[in-house]
Amino acid sequence: MIFIDACLKKETPYTPIWMMRQAGRYLPEYRATRSKAGTFMDLCRNPELACEVTLQPIDLVGVDAAILFSDILVIPAEMGMDLEFISGRGPVFHDPIRMESDLKRLADDSDEKLTYVYDAIKLIRRDLADDKALIGFAGSPWTLATYMVEGGGSKTYEISKKMVYSAPHLMHAILRKNTDAIIRYLLKQIDAGVNAVQVFDSWGGALEESAFFEFSWSYMKEIADAIKSKHPEVPVILFSRGISGYLDKIDGNFDVFGVDWSTPIEKAKAALFDRYALQGNLEPTRLYSQEAIKSGVEHIIDVMGREPGHIFNLGHGMLPDLSPDNARYLVQLVHELTRR
Ligand code: CP3
Repeated sequence: MIFIDACLKKETPYTPIWMMRQAGRYLPEYRATRSKAGTFMDLCRNPELACEVTLQPIDLVGVDAAILFSDILVIPAEMGMDLEFISGRGPVFHDPIRMESDLKRLADDSDEKLTYVYDAIKLIRRDLADDKALIGFAGSPWTLATYMVEGGGSKTYEISKKMVYSAPHLMHAILRKNTDAIIRYLLKQIDAGVNAVQVFDSWGGALEESAFFEFSWSYMKEIADAIKSKHPEVPVILFSRGISGYLDKIDGNFDVFGVDWSTPIEKAKAALFDRYALQGNLEPTRLYSQEAIKSGVEHIIDVMGREPGHIFNLGHGMLPDLSPDNARYLVQLVHELTRR
């Protein structure tokens, strides 16, 4: 699989590409399946339909890897938290975690309740071409904790950051629970058939440097270690957003560092490419314009060259109103410009 080879820094015939949030609302085919399913969570809990939307960008956009269709918030949902996706507002937990006694409400067997995810993985792996990788994923302990504590998305993270400084033992207790659940969940995803795993730390950049390493990165490293010690052949991708200032201190037993769009790719290359493969990092908003796509791609390829160990991706998720034609244009351009 070309994607797996690139993760392991082996030679590939061209630079593989996939896009974070590649299955989603910008595809009319996704919107059709989504309305068949009912709510977004109904879609996540339906293995046949989750399989269908996972495969859509493979056929329609031509990417080199599929990412399991699900959401990072299925773990807290299966811990028993009351999750609702409200249109126009995003995810909401009606019963946020604010004190020690709230922790007791969180079930320890979420990984056993996530059978619909493992069933979807088996269906996808059966239907996906043998040369295309299937990527499994989870949210990072810290990013999940921000949703669980704030009760939804946030611009300031003031409740979760207040906990970091005023009740660090409580935040660490939440992170401990999340980390244990994530490790068991990712190991079960691998048993079901995923070929690589990515941990999404979308809100790592909300923390100052010392807090980031204590409350987010240390747990990400623990997850990577647990996966690599059981499955040394399975690539582990870590993606923390908004941490370009902290790159020189990044370490750990993982394979691929996901570079966000706010990090200059030459900076990531200088700090990390001797130890890790790099994934990224086209600014997603460039996808509104083919000229902007072309100049952005040319710059990234100029820096990363045709050396093994680069996986092309966006520097964050696909936006819901982008044109599928521009997504296809991006994939073709990357393949064309990097063919060895
Ligand atoms: O990448 C893929 O194609 C696979 C599926 C995937 C989804 N969410 C589907 C989704 C993945 C990998 C995620 C990860 C995710 N979910 C993250 C981390 C990545 C990132 O973007 O930073 C986060 C923070 C979430 C939490 C989440 N889920 C939010 C904030 C929202 C609402 C915002 C929005 O875009 O509406 C979701 C919902 C969601 N997850 C949708 C999809 C396709 C849209 C739901 C819909 O169909 O209405």
